[in-house]
Amino acid sequence: PQNVGILAIEVYFPCNSVLQSELEVFDKASTGKYTIGLGQDRLGFCTDHEDVISMSLTVVQNLLEKYSIDPTNVGRIEVGSETVIDKSKSIKSCLMLLFQKSGNSDIEGVDSTNACYGGTAALLNAMNWVESSSWDGRYAIVVASDSAVYAEGPARPTGGAGAVAMLIGPDAPIAMNRTCIATYMAHTYDFYKPNLASEYPVVDGKLTQICYLRALDACYNLIGQKYEKQSQQKLSLSDIDFVVCHSPYNKLVQKSFARLLYNDFCNHGASVVDLKPLHAYAGIPVAESYTNRDLEKTLMTISKEEYASKVHPSALIPKQVGNMYCASLYAGLASLLHSQREKLTGKRILMFSYGSGLASSMFFLETRDPSLQSRFNLHHLADSMGLSHLLESRNIVTPEEFNKTMELMETRYGGCNFVPSSPLNQIREGVYHLTGVDEKFRRTYERK
Ligand code: ACO
Repeated sequence: PQNVGILAIEVYFPCNSVLQSELEVFDKASTGKYTIGLGQDRLGFCTDHEDVISMSLTVVQNLLEKYSIDPTNVGRIEVGSETVIDKSKSIKSCLMLLFQKSGNSDIEGVDSTNACYGGTAALLNAMNWVESSSWDGRYAIVVASDSAVYAEGPARPTGGAGAVAMLIGPDAPIAMNRTCIATYMAHTYDFYKPNLASEYPVVDGKLTQICYLRALDACYNLIGQKYEKQSQQKLSLSDIDFVVCHSPYNKLVQKSFARLLYNDFCNHGASVVDLKPLHAYAGIPVAESYTNRDLEKTLMTISKEEYASKVHPSALIPKQVGNMYCASLYAGLASLLHSQREKLTGKRILMFSYGSGLASSMFFLETRDPSLQSRFNLHHLADSMGLSHLLESRNIVTPEEFNKTMELMETRYGGCNFVPSSPLNQIREGVYHLTGVDEKFRRTYERK
């Protein structure tokens, strides 16, 4: 099969959100810390009516309906998530609910987990299947779904929640370049979830930032080497139309783009901007380059305009909803599609996926006009997501209510024998929600 990639994409995030500007005041943080310092506008979160399973059910059912996909025509479902509801039973097994009626139980794939990287692991598995000798011509679906919640403290404003589903197959309008993928994996303790009784991670915030940027450097240099080997040309940002990064918070994405420019400077690649101001930092040790504030400031200044054109279009959902963990990178891609629509045709997108602990990959997506008989095109994809409506129709709740919900969710996590008590009117029509967890921890869902 040729041009295997993303045929269609569907995004979901909960209806409730809290304004970061109000959260700053409530947390007694200095004005601008969350909005400018972290670069975030709002934070989306689940009440006890929703979880990663219900959000996954919602995106997959919407995807099937919006594109009239016959459920028997799906041969693989891969799920990426780091939100543990069950240590054994996969989210994928719950998604089989949607296929029961059609009688299709012949669907390979289960869940992949490593912090925010699971969605990318799922995507690579699905891509490999479609390109393999075991492919039977049916679609694969990739689901990335997470609820990102942190204990009270400096990490809490970097939460978020949501899910993305992608239909994978050949002749895709968003095809993956399969010969130029770079991966960097290492053993680190920057963010992990050793306490199985709590939904909250143990996080060393400063270490996560350095690990993320080191992984970005390693992947960019490796993908550059592979690109050069194939094209006999040095890779630089001038060869890339858009950059989409995993977005824990927008400021780190701004810094990542600046860092790519620094790599171009170190590698003497062609440049998209005047790099003269960087000569003052030539030859500084790599370790220092991560912590030198003057260098960072210079990089942020010279990359600002290019950031606005190459990266900002993918920042919409990540800034408005927050970190969706596994779904974050793909919500960024959906934002880019939403802003560019058919103008995205013929572009090269650099994708950077990062999951603490750590697993990271960088790859290119190439957008194209599919063949005439295809019903999957960029214009239709952008329309079908209905992102403007999803974003604008949300509730804004107070920080007090947000914190109360977090307290309620702490009692729900790992619990049984309860019926959700949050108001059901905070769930949109057509959305799957949890109706109860019985004494044997069995969860039931319904579509509103
Ligand atoms: N106006 C403008 N900017 C401000 C203000 C203000 N009033 N106050 C602070 N800032 C800036 C700071 O200078 C800083 O900017 P910098 O990063 O350029 O230095 C930024 O706001 C954040 O302030 P810090 O004091 O560094 O924030 P803190 O250490 O309290 O928390 C952190 C930030 C570490 C990101 C925390 O929220 C966290 O641990 N989050 C979870 C981990 C995470 O998301 N890591 C990212 C990769 S791993 C992953 O995806 C989970």
